[in-house]
Amino acid sequence: MPPLIKLPQTKEELEQIVALDLLCLGGFWSLKSYQKEIENPNSVLLTFVEANMTIGCGCFWSILEEAHITMLAIHPDYQGQGLGSLLLFSLLKNAHLRGLERATLEVKSSNFKAISLYQKFKFKIAGTRKKYYENGEDALIFWREDLAKEI
Ligand SMILES: CC(C)(COP(=O)(O)OP(=O)(O)OC[C@H]1O[C@@H](n2cnc3c(N)ncnc32)[C@H](O)[C@@H]1OP(=O)(O)O)[C@@H](O)C(=O)NCCC(=O)NCCS
Repeated sequence: MPPLIKLPQTKEELEQIVALDLLCLGGFWSLKSYQKEIENPNSVLLTFVEANMTIGCGCFWSILEEAHITMLAIHPDYQGQGLGSLLLFSLLKNAHLRGLERATLEVKSSNFKAISLYQKFKFKIAGTRKKYYENGEDALIFWREDLAKEI
C-alpha cells in the first residue's frame, strides 16, 4: 500500500516525527515545538505514514498570502523514490486551496538535493542570507510565485 499523507493524531506519531527530524535535520524542532505546530491554526503539518511508521514530514506557515515552508524531511531509507516531491506537492496544493498565492523557504546553500527538488517545483532564488546557519553556512531564499498555476 502506498504511504498515507495525513495530519499527525497521536503522541506516538509526534514522537516519530521528532525522531525523523533528528535523523534528517539534526533536531530542528522539539516535541513541544511540533505540538505547538499542530495546535497553531496558521500551521499545516503533513506526514507520510507507512506501516504505522512516520517516514516523511513537511510543514508550512500561512502568513498573509504566503506559505512559508518551515521543514520538509523524508526518512533516508525512503529518499529518491518521489516521496519528497509528493509531500512538497501536497503542501503547495494545500496552501493554494487555503487561498495562499506564493510560497517561500530557506535552504542551506550546500543542500543540493533539496535545491534540486525546489527548482523542480519552479522555486527561484530570491536572495541569500549570509552565514544564516550555526555552522556559518549561507541560506538561499527561494520563492515560488503563483500557486494558482500548475504546481
Ligand atoms: C530533500 C528531500 C526532502 C528530498 O526527498 P526525496 O524523497 O529524496 O525526493 P524525491 O525522491 O521526490 O526527489 C525529488 C528531487 O530531488 C532531487 N534529488 C533527490 N535525490 C537526489 C540526489 N541523490 N541527487 C540529486 N538530486 C536529488 C531531484 O531533483 C529529484 O527530482 P527527480 O527525481 O525528478 O530528478 C530529502 O532528501 C530529505 O529529507 N533530505 C534531508 C532533509 C532536508 O534537507 N530537507 C530540506 C530542508 S530545506
